[in-house]
Amino acid sequence: MAHPKTEKIWHNGKFINWDDSKIHVLSHVVSYGSAVFEGVRAYDTPQGISVFRLREHIQRLLNSAYIYRMEVPYNNDDLCAATLDLVRTNNVGACYIRPIILRGYGEAGVDPVGCPIEVYLACYPWGKYLGEDGLSQGVDVCVSSWNRPAPNTLPQMAKAAANYMNSQLIRMEARANGYVEGIALDTNGYVSEGSGENVFVVSGGAVITPPVSNSALPGITRHSVMTICRDLGIPVVEQIIPREMLYIVDEVFFCGTAVEVTPIRSVDRIKIGSGARGPITKRIQDEFFALVEGKKPDRHNWLSPVNVPATAAR
Ligand SMILES: Cc1ncc(COP(=O)(O)O)c(C=O)c1O
Repeated sequence: MAHPKTEKIWHNGKFINWDDSKIHVLSHVVSYGSAVFEGVRAYDTPQGISVFRLREHIQRLLNSAYIYRMEVPYNNDDLCAATLDLVRTNNVGACYIRPIILRGYGEAGVDPVGCPIEVYLACYPWGKYLGEDGLSQGVDVCVSSWNRPAPNTLPQMAKAAANYMNSQLIRMEARANGYVEGIALDTNGYVSEGSGENVFVVSGGAVITPPVSNSALPGITRHSVMTICRDLGIPVVEQIIPREMLYIVDEVFFCGTAVEVTPIRSVDRIKIGSGARGPITKRIQDEFFALVEGKKPDRHNWLSPVNVPATAAR
């Protein structure tokens, strides 16, 4: 699929045309993967287009940059305001937002000091990541033969471009073998996460997800799901998950900005529970969509209205 396009991209405080957002091939990021980024969604809501958990995404972006000693001349308020401005300016309705901070063209060599920090914000229309059917029917996944990076190698609490070389291996292998996605284990063989999503299991009525110390990204949807569970009175814990537990639990699901809340109906061709979306996954999914689409009061202050009408009404 060709990359969806919008009119403007925000670069270091100014809007530039989509086609003008170019970097030099010898920019530090190209050889050394030195970028941190985010993926954020803006939804149609009765109050107009609203960005989901914008502050938390921008904070994780700034945290990722901080881990990599990138000095960013913008704070959370600046980047939130710029993001809302971007979505308003492009006026494409519900969309995916991609903030990027990268080390640009400057000095040669691995040492990044001396290469400029470039900040970009882009947005574009984007549909369901694992397909519409996946959300209702569930998806078929495998356990990847690739592990997530070991602790103290590539920091997994940072959402850094370099991490996604590992994610690409997981995803390409899964698809080559006929699965929609792969679940990776950490270097001790415990469940970590998917190539671009956190994983949850449901066992005996309790919802369980691996702690971030199992090389998982501190997902913002993961946090939202845990909050929703507490709101609904569903027990939720962070706990180490051995691989084989995936096969014998009642339900498994992915969550993330891209996949939202997507049920998993089989792992390694082993049917999970009834082989369809489970009842607890559905309760969480229903509450998640009601909140992100503004159909229930925004009790956690998760939505930032952009002040443009919703796509359907435009
Ligand atoms: C590796 C990985 N894990 C988990 C997630 C889910 O995080 P979030 O819910 O913040 O999108 C993502 C997506 O950003 C990811 O790329």
